[in-house]
Amino acid sequence: MPSHTAGTPRLGVGTFPVSGLGRPSAEQATALLTRALDAGIRLIDTADSYHLPGESEGYAERLVLAALERWGGDVTEVAVITKGGRRLLPDGTRVSAASPLDLEQACRRSLDRLGLDAIPLYLLHRPDPAVPYAESLRALATLCDTGLVERVGISNADLDQIALAHDILGERFTAVQNEYSPWNRAAEPELRHCLEHDLEFLPWGGFGGAESGSRPDTEPALRELAERHGCTPHQVLLLWLLEQGTCPIPGVRRPESLDSCLAALALPNRQQIAIDAASVIDRISGVSTVSTTPASPTFPAH
Ligand SMILES: NC(=O)c1ccc[n+]([C@@H]2O[C@H](COP(=O)([O-])OP(=O)(O)OC[C@H]3O[C@@H](n4cnc5c(N)ncnc54)[C@H](OP(=O)(O)O)[C@@H]3O)[C@@H](O)[C@H]2O)c1
Repeated sequence: MPSHTAGTPRLGVGTFPVSGLGRPSAEQATALLTRALDAGIRLIDTADSYHLPGESEGYAERLVLAALERWGGDVTEVAVITKGGRRLLPDGTRVSAASPLDLEQACRRSLDRLGLDAIPLYLLHRPDPAVPYAESLRALATLCDTGLVERVGISNADLDQIALAHDILGERFTAVQNEYSPWNRAAEPELRHCLEHDLEFLPWGGFGGAESGSRPDTEPALRELAERHGCTPHQVLLLWLLEQGTCPIPGVRRPESLDSCLAALALPNRQQIAIDAASVIDRISGVSTVSTTPASPTFPAH
């Protein structure tokens, strides 16, 4: 069994829902992120483009800084992940901007907003069709070499892009963030690669995405399984994601969602839930669960 049976589950928190449509107030969001830190979460996923259309970039990054300051603990313990290479335009369109100059400038702005000495993990948000992927990757290497970031990773990447990242970034390359949920298992090969090559795999949209985060509740088989084990469909899913060897980063808007994720890690029957979840979720997905050894933890344990 991976992570959670060893008593050190890796769990992060995603900041997309606190920065987009339907978001809570900045005060509520700061309190929520502080609550996560107080509860022992040491991984926060954000991006410079997590903000509302028409608003200046970096809204979510500023919330992260506010939470780190309010928490008052040792920030070097917290793996803050941010991403660059993507912009949200005032009309709501998202566009890529991952030239070396774009990335360097974006990274410096993120660093400034986060108030850190160096960004623990910086991700290329998405390949930019207008920029050769190798050029964006070389820019990430430079960010590492100049000390602006500690480690780098890529997001929304396929196996060819991961192979290129290994070549260009070497040991600086430590993580991949792709969409992965029962309803989208397309990243199964990339997940398998990460498990086999000691890269962290951070699944986004694990509960179906911020806009449809209640999707687990609509699956009768998940609900039935959850009911049988005295937990919720989201908790079943979270334990399944951990069992898959991923490092989940569920997005949360409400303190109840955060508390429910944390409570899942303490369920006495979590191992059995994860085992039972595999076949149920495979049926929902229409694919088979990968059976490989999980990557060794890169991030501080929760
Ligand atoms: N790299 C990329 O391209 C990319 C793209 C999208 C997202 N991301 C990252 O991945 C993170 C996760 O994805 P996501 O936020 O889009 O979607 P998600 O994690 O699939 O779903 C988030 C929604 O799930 C609900 N939720 C979470 N825990 C719950 C629980 N225990 N019980 C009931 N409901 C629960 C939340 O509801 P409430 O809001 O009501 O609390 C939230 O709105 C993001 O926050 C972001 O950091 C990355």
